[in-house]
Amino acid sequence: MKSKELQAATTFIADQLAQQPKVGLILGSGLGMLADEIEKPTKIKYEDIPGFPVSTVEGHAGQLVCGELKGVYVIAMQGRFHYYEGYGLETVTFPVRVMKALGIEKLIVTNAAGGVNPSFEPGNLMLITDHINNAAQNPLIGPNDAEQGVRFPDMSTAYDRDLQKLAKEVASELKLDLKEGVYVWNTGPSYETPAEIRMLQTMGADAVGMSTVPEVVVARHASIDVLGISCISNMAAGILDQPLNHEEVIETTEKVREAFLDFVKAILARLA
Ligand code: 6GU
Repeated sequence: MKSKELQAATTFIADQLAQQPKVGLILGSGLGMLADEIEKPTKIKYEDIPGFPVSTVEGHAGQLVCGELKGVYVIAMQGRFHYYEGYGLETVTFPVRVMKALGIEKLIVTNAAGGVNPSFEPGNLMLITDHINNAAQNPLIGPNDAEQGVRFPDMSTAYDRDLQKLAKEVASELKLDLKEGVYVWNTGPSYETPAEIRMLQTMGADAVGMSTVPEVVVARHASIDVLGISCISNMAAGILDQPLNHEEVIETTEKVREAFLDFVKAILARLA
């Protein structure tokens, strides 16, 4: 961990903020519009932040949006960095280090994911109860900075139990049919084959995507409490007899936009 870069990025951002952020939000493909609801936002383009890379994927705006949402001062990433874009995992997870240095205690991570559990349908929201790192990559490989966290971080409750309980309570209040399950990280950018999806099913996976796990590993290393929500944007290969494409991912996330927004805002209201 390059602490000079971390300090430079943190100072650059902190100087522009009215308050210390309490909750971080990482907004996945097609879910970034949540940040548009932040009141009196401070917007900081990734390209302007020292040490931040520039996001390249469609459907990712590439900026931090900070301000109040439902009474909580949040720092939201409108667009994230993916390993498949060619960034190293230290770069992919750098924003999590920065958010920690800025003072967040909780992190809400969201993503668009393929449904692996055959009982799911596109448009479902899934509470992430656990994950499987299927990429054989780890953002903590390398010398450990003891100031950031321990060498061998515990992952037995990667997704905070109290936050899961809160999310389920909120879902039931909103009469939202919240699914729950295990998220698998594959590097992408190719989607899986039907045989790989059958393998993931036997592994105990419910959803598969190309993000989130690196950020969550680093967040846990930094003792941040994590809540994870997947938007099931499509069924994974071989479940329905139809090809997959990124357009479908974006279209589905647009359809569940309102439900997703209401859900996360209601969770934040309870955290205020
Ligand atoms: Cl089916 N697989 C992966 N790896 N990522 C996805 C997906 C599938 N659908 C949306 N994102």
